[in-house]
Amino acid sequence: MAKIVTVLGSTNIDKVVSVPRFGVSGETLHTPNHQVEAMGGKGLNQGVAVARSAVKTNMITKVGKEFDTAKNMNVANLSTEHVMYSETEETGQAYITVSEETGDNIIYIYGGANADMTAADVREHTDAIKESDFVIAQLETSVETVIEAFKIAHENGVKTILNPAPMPEDGGLPAELLNLTDVIAPNEHETFILTGIEVTDEHSMIDNASYYFERGIDTVIITVGSEGAFYMRKDGSEGIVPSFKVKAVDTTAAGDTFIGAMSTRLNPELDNLPEAMRYGAAASSLTVQRAGAQPSIPVEEEVLKVLEDNK
Ligand code: RIB
Ligand code: NA
Repeated sequence: MAKIVTVLGSTNIDKVVSVPRFGVSGETLHTPNHQVEAMGGKGLNQGVAVARSAVKTNMITKVGKEFDTAKNMNVANLSTEHVMYSETEETGQAYITVSEETGDNIIYIYGGANADMTAADVREHTDAIKESDFVIAQLETSVETVIEAFKIAHENGVKTILNPAPMPEDGGLPAELLNLTDVIAPNEHETFILTGIEVTDEHSMIDNASYYFERGIDTVIITVGSEGAFYMRKDGSEGIVPSFKVKAVDTTAAGDTFIGAMSTRLNPELDNLPEAMRYGAAASSLTVQRAGAQPSIPVEEEVLKVLEDNK
């Protein structure tokens, strides 16, 4: 179990519309659904997932001056002490279409204040990182901000978890960042961009893991949508934690929920990975059955019930 988790990352206002199916370039489609707004951002989603699983969360994020933090980040266990305000940019935005057919989404993000966060900004929140068991980061703030946070973490014996999402399309992440990462948790697409090895079967997942081991990362988790998640540690232990079979309504924030919720059950020694992942999988099975990002992230009690019902 973790006692305190710091999440460094984005805050977005999600503008979501459900569509009967995804269109193709040049096509016009009718949708019976009005756009809805909900709080999102991979960073804040992961922070909310941690907090709702009853673990103290330090949220390091940057929003626009217009943002109503008291209202929009009013989540038990989530500390807003480390929220920063951009002088020049408004809060990040995400434009999301959700397919009513499959529950899958397509997301376009506008960085706004997230893109305005600097490494110096992160340094101001050294104390938050220091007191944590884990620091989790994604890639909706700059790579420099993540490197800074992970450096501070390692200087203070704090474990780092990287969710490399979204992966820059040019494929590269600095060697320094990989070397500062204790646990990497990409999905199958992100890991392919990083390693160039397509995820087709368990063997290819092991090959992906080896790529990370060679670059200084000892623990690898690869999420493969509704199939579940693969894990492997440098000591050779590996396996697949299957997902809970449910009907997906909206998969937005499923990956974020998995990572945030999992971290709350993970020992800082990383010696109970499958057990922590099973908790994360139970949490994300609830997220996919509900619309929106943050409104869909479950609280601990709900997750424990899923685990109890599936014993
Ligand atoms: O992972 C889902 C999130 O991605 C959404 O909430 C959206 O804001 C984008 O950041
Ligand atoms: Na959802």
